[in-house]
Formats: sequence, C-alpha cells, structure tokens
Amino acid sequence: MSLKNIRLEVMQAIEPQVQGFMDSFLVPIEEIWQPSDFLPDSQSDDFFSETEQIREEAKELGYDFWVTLVADTITEEALPTYESWLMDVEGVDQHDGRDNGWSKWVRAWTAEENRHGDVLNKYLYLSGRVNMREVEITTQHLIADGFDIGTDRDPYKNFVYTSFQELATNISHKRVGKMAKKKGNKLLGKMCSIIAGDEMRHHLAYREFVKTILGEDPNGMIEAFADMMKRKIVMPAHFLRESGESIGVAFEQFSNCAQRLGVYTAQDYIEILQKLNNYWEIGNLNGLSEQAEKARDYLMNLPGRLERIAGRMQFGEDQYKFKWVEANGML
Ligand SMILES: [Fe+2]
Ligand SMILES: [Fe+2]
Repeated sequence: MSLKNIRLEVMQAIEPQVQGFMDSFLVPIEEIWQPSDFLPDSQSDDFFSETEQIREEAKELGYDFWVTLVADTITEEALPTYESWLMDVEGVDQHDGRDNGWSKWVRAWTAEENRHGDVLNKYLYLSGRVNMREVEITTQHLIADGFDIGTDRDPYKNFVYTSFQELATNISHKRVGKMAKKKGNKLLGKMCSIIAGDEMRHHLAYREFVKTILGEDPNGMIEAFADMMKRKIVMPAHFLRESGESIGVAFEQFSNCAQRLGVYTAQDYIEILQKLNNYWEIGNLNGLSEQAEKARDYLMNLPGRLERIAGRMQFGEDQYKFKWVEANGML
C-alpha cells in the first residue's frame, strides 16, 4: 500500500474519535470569550475615556514590543492561509457529504483562532502606536504570498507542525502579555494571556492527534516527525514583508526582534521539541522498523545538538526600522 493510502486509512480509523477531541479541547461558542469582552464598548458613553486609557498605557511600551505585537497580530490575521492549507490535508474532506469529523475540527479550530487576529487588530487600532495602513498592507501581502511549511498534504507532518506551532504561539503570546502587564497595560496583558490559553488547548489537541496516530502507525508517524525536524519548523509568517519590500525580509527582522526581547528564542524551539519527545515517549518506542529506529535516535539526539548550536548564536542590535511602528519618541 502506498504511503498516501496508509495515511488515509489511519485518518479514517481515528475519525470517530474527533468529536471527542473537540469536546475535550475546544470551548462551546456560546461560552468562550469574545474580543468585545476586552475592548471598550463603542455603544457605551465610556468608550472615549476607556480608549483614552488604552492610548495612555500604550505609551509605556517600547519599539521592539510594538514590532513584535504587530507581527504576532499579522501572523494571526493570515488565518485564511492556515484554514485552506489544513482543509487540503489527506483525510480532511469537506466534500465527502457526511460531515467529515476532521473537516469539522478544522472549521471549529479556525473559528476559535479567528478571534485572535480580531481582538489584537482592534487593540492595535485603538492604541495609536502603529501605522495601521502599513500593517494592513503587510497582512494582505502575507495572505497573498501564502506559506510553505514543508508538510505537503501529509496529516502526520501537519499535526507535528501544528503541535509545535501552537505551543510556540502560546509561549510568545504569554510573554508579550507578561511584558504588557509589567508596564501597567492590564487590559493588553489579559488579552494576550487569554489568547495564550486558547493556543495551549489547541496544542494539547494536536499533540493528542499525533499520540493517537503513533498508536496506529508508529513507524510512519515517527519518520514524519523526524522529517519535519530535519527541515526545521518554519514559522507560519516566514514570508512576512513590508510594503515595497521583498518577501521574507520583515520576517527575519521580526525574528531578531522577538529573540532580543526574549519573546520567542532558539531555546524555546529546543524546549518545545523536548516536550514533544517526552509526551510522545519517542525514546520508549520499540518494535520499530530499521528506518524508524534511525528516526527515533535522530529525534532523541536532536535537542542536545541544537543546544550546542544555540550556544553559539548571537543577536545584536540592528538598524532595521519597520514601517509599522514610528521609532520617534519610543523607549
Ligand atoms: Fe492564534
Ligand atoms: Fe493557535
């Protein structure tokens, strides 16, 4: 049987469990938070004073902080790319006429994710600290440029990617929230930490998908995991660009910025990998094929290897100025 057919069979075998995953890891729509819970109510007379407070508090946050928050927001706003990508994965089928469990998952996940870009975008708009038109151009570019995360239509690789990526976004939103809170931006702090909570639930779900696949097809799953790590997990916004610039330039600068700020670092990448290795008990998998054993050994040795490389990496100050944020008068 071809690899593709095995994947499809495994996805179909697991499909009856997907509703259970949705019940465990997603929150019913009527109960979950909405952007309006955190933002000034434009129907209320307090709207202007609350907005004024947001603008005052926003003055306490520095240039690198805004660059990072803008890039995080744009990454969330490129959700159409992620939904269409996941809908196209082997075994996820919105056309099979019987409401395929996996496509229901993708829609429900997208619906939760959609609130992230929404709340952050409105906050940025009210903050008065960023050039919204430049932010919007970058968002449009990013959606038009798409991405290539190296997963193809393979569900195994895609679920490794999402397991990894949801935890990465959890970490970065959480850290941004803490920084905001520390500088007296309570509202922004709350917003970021509640988004981080969503990302954590998503991470827990995706890592469960992988764990379940490991039970069905350990050889295929572990090889797919090793493949993904060999090509490195690229961020979903790796094509990020500013107006008039070429593809990917802004992403590199933003990564440096996030690294300098300590919002998402090479060390975090290693720790995520370590956590995935632990949860999936990669080191304890036995009875594998020869090739899968090689993949297992590669994965178990990788954190140590990356530690040695990370120790040599340096991120200095740089002169790049983003169009999204006015550098004048910033901390
Ligand atoms: Fe998100
Ligand atoms: Fe997420």
